[in-house]
Amino acid sequence: MEIRTVGVLGCGLMGSGIAQVSAAAGYRTIVREVNDPALQAGLGRIRKFLADGVAKGKVTEDAQTKTLGNLTGTTSTADLKDCDIVIEAIVESLDEKRAIYQAVEAVVRPETIIASNTSSLCITELAAATTRPDRFGGLHFFNPVPLMKLVEVIRALTTSEETSRALTAFAGSLGKEPITAPDRPGFIVNRLLVPYLLDAIREYERGLGTIEDIDKGMKLGCGYPMGPFTLLDFVGLDTTYYIANIMFEEFREPRFAPPPLLKRMVLAGYHGRKTKRGFYSY
Ligand code: 3HC
Repeated sequence: MEIRTVGVLGCGLMGSGIAQVSAAAGYRTIVREVNDPALQAGLGRIRKFLADGVAKGKVTEDAQTKTLGNLTGTTSTADLKDCDIVIEAIVESLDEKRAIYQAVEAVVRPETIIASNTSSLCITELAAATTRPDRFGGLHFFNPVPLMKLVEVIRALTTSEETSRALTAFAGSLGKEPITAPDRPGFIVNRLLVPYLLDAIREYERGLGTIEDIDKGMKLGCGYPMGPFTLLDFVGLDTTYYIANIMFEEFREPRFAPPPLLKRMVLAGYHGRKTKRGFYSY
């Protein structure tokens, strides 16, 4: 099936990035938020990213104009009715996702594909919450979406071969590299990344080194773009804690258990860059 019009649910950090790359790839893109302030904040993030890109010489003014021209913001789910694919990037709550799928299914065509950008929920469970479990799959993007080249494509137990192929081709058409990941907590990337981040916290608590030295070690010694504590602050300590808990619940292996320090920092509201305090202050 041909994809021309893309719907994005949620214009937060991930949703705005997904809407941006979709509009930049030439799709008519409609991004939906719950209220106008949230929508304007998300659209503002896209405008700033494009303006910064132009200033850095990475984005042409023509591409900036075309991207913004392809993009529409809305607070009404009914505006998604012509979408060939709808990508959901709202909060990680099964109940809220169920509710939004129901609202979307009330307006879109039966053949429209729905995909979730969830980083931790079970894709098969989400698919089962819709009336189209064969036309549902996972499309997991990485932060910052416009810069990170990867998209994980996840098949629910019920996803059809055709849907899976369409999702892979769609990710490729956004200029991303798709990989196929299993419907298991963490998929491929977080399954390996999260234990590494948790290990960094545990070893820091055991006196392995300072936060700065551990970060410098992994950055300069291994060529990682960010050390583990910078990355934890970037991803969000609350997000990491949430994913770790889901992985621990599923696998019951100590390496997925969130360390006490992470839990306490989350409880204290130190969620990383977004709260201006995490392992570093911003
Ligand atoms: N428009 C276009 N291009 C831009 C841009 C913009 N507004 N801003 C930056 N760029 C380009 C730069 O020009 C540069 O391009 P170049 O490599 O060709 O020179 C490139 O993007 C990198 O930008 P900067 O040089 O400004 O910044 P850094 O070199 O510090 O890189 C980073 C920033 C890409 C965020 C890098 O630090 C990085 O890769 N960090 C790791 C991020 C990561 O691991 N993300 C995944 C998190 S896990 C996740 O998301 C999953 C979830 O489920 C938790």
